[in-house]
Formats: sequence, C-alpha cells, structure tokens
Amino acid sequence: MTARVHEAVVRFTPRHAAAAAGSAGAAPAAGRRLQIKVLRHNPRSPGSVPHWQTYEIEEADGMTLFIALTEIRERQDPSLMFDFVCRAGICGSCAMVVDGRPGLACRTLTCGRGPVITLAPLPFFELIGDLSVNTGKWMRAMSERLQGWLHLRDEAPDIGRIEEPMDPDLADRIYELDRCVECGCCVAACGTARMREDFVGAVGMNRVARFRLDPRDARNQPGDDSAWYDLVGDDDGVFGCMSLLACHDLCPKELPLATQIAYLRRAMVKQGFA
Ligand code: SF4
Ligand code: SF4
Ligand code: FES
Repeated sequence: MTARVHEAVVRFTPRHAAAAAGSAGAAPAAGRRLQIKVLRHNPRSPGSVPHWQTYEIEEADGMTLFIALTEIRERQDPSLMFDFVCRAGICGSCAMVVDGRPGLACRTLTCGRGPVITLAPLPFFELIGDLSVNTGKWMRAMSERLQGWLHLRDEAPDIGRIEEPMDPDLADRIYELDRCVECGCCVAACGTARMREDFVGAVGMNRVARFRLDPRDARNQPGDDSAWYDLVGDDDGVFGCMSLLACHDLCPKELPLATQIAYLRRAMVKQGFA
C-alpha cells in the first residue's frame, strides 16, 4: 500500500501542537529550510538497499510532517511511500519513527524540530516500502490470537431485544480503552516485542483489558479470570512484559497503558494461584 491521502479537515488544538512538537510555544523560524532525511527501501524492488535520502523544503506556519511529506512527494519525488488517511490522529496509519521516537506524523509539527528531521519506518512490522509498514497484518493476527471481539452470552443473538443500559461510569472506562487507533507505536517501542515474535504488546493487553471490563462478554465470570489467563497468562502476554513502559510514554492517544498492564498482571497472578 503506498500513500493513502484522503481530503479531510485537520484541526490542531494547542494540546496537540505542544505534544506534537514536543516544544510548547516554539514559534517557527520564518523561511526556515528543513532537511527531511528519510530511510528508504523498497523490498519488492530488486537491488534496493536501505539508504538515507535527504529532501530540502521550506517550512511553513503550522507545518506537520504530513504536509512536509506530501509536498516532497508532489514536488520532488512521487516515488516516496508513506501512509495517511485521516490526517487527524484518528486512523493510526501514519505512525513512523520521528527523530528516533515512534509517533504519528500527522500530529507532529516541524516547528521546534530540525533543521534536520529524520524519518524511518516503524521497526518490527512488515515493510511495504520507505515509511509505509503493514501494521494491519500484525494487528489482525494479534486480534485473532486474543479473540479481541465481544463474545456474546447468548448462542443466537436476538435482534428484536431491547438494548440494555450500561452504567455511564463503566461505559466511560470502556471508551477510554477503546480509543486505541492501532497505530503500532507501542509495539515499535517495545523491547519484548523485538525478542518475542508472538508477544501481544501493550495494544493486545489493552484489548484484553477492554473486554475484561465489559459485562456483556461471556468470558467474564464472577471471580474467574481463567478465560483471560488462557489468552495472556504467559510470556507472550503479561508475564513477558518488562514494565519499562516505553509503550505508555509514547502512545499518541495517551492511553493508560501502565495502569492497565499492572491491573491485568495482578489479576493473572491471582488467577495463576487459584
Ligand atoms: S495503545 Fe496507543 S500506541 Fe499502542 S496501538 Fe493503541 S494508540 Fe497506538
Ligand atoms: S511495558 Fe511491557 S508492553 Fe510496554 S514497552 Fe515495556 S515490555 Fe513492552
Ligand atoms: S493520518 Fe490518521 S492518524 Fe495520522
């Protein structure tokens, strides 16, 4: 999959700007020249070897890496591969390594960075080309491994049944975890994921935590976490996690990963001794 650019309106709040730039209040230098240094490689092109290529562009007010890369592709190099869909931090497709740290390119302002900005594809995921990686393939495998969907208590769903109300506080707690955009930043930052191919990562543990909260899920039985233990009670799950929390520090959606991993591990330890 090469660049996926859809038209959409992007609105940056001051919080987005500060988080994205990593330098709240930094004003762009007028007419600054930026050097965007991209790690390039096309695994499907015979003879292609990974190499750095530097593009020079003029910085504009409010410029994001999405804007910078689009300008490069349109005016300098149409062969440059990268992924974007929403341009608003919602779809998760634009994750890449920016100056050594995984992050969302559409939420990363150039101001406060540079003049040299280095971009590399997320490690660990299958490389499609240049800055484009196949996070979807990994996320799907993880979801299938964890059966990351609602397991209904009834054998046959009754579509005529009236919806049951949910406690608003519980709905909020579930929604908080549902905000994950599956960008892959937490996996790319994770030391365990590098060592264990089947490690479910913080995104997987967050998925389990989300369904473990949901009273509609048949895997939730009073005082019994055995269904969850079967899924993440091993070294590819909570017991493989080294708790260094790069995932928590780098999650662009600021999910409470540290708390969720700690809760889940405690529950799985308890279940292991049950
Ligand atoms: S938990 Fe955060 S970093 Fe990980 S995939 Fe979800 S949004 Fe991205
Ligand atoms: S805390 Fe666990 S899941 Fe998060 S980066 Fe470290 S090893 Fe990976
Ligand atoms: S383009 Fe959708 S999150 Fe960046």
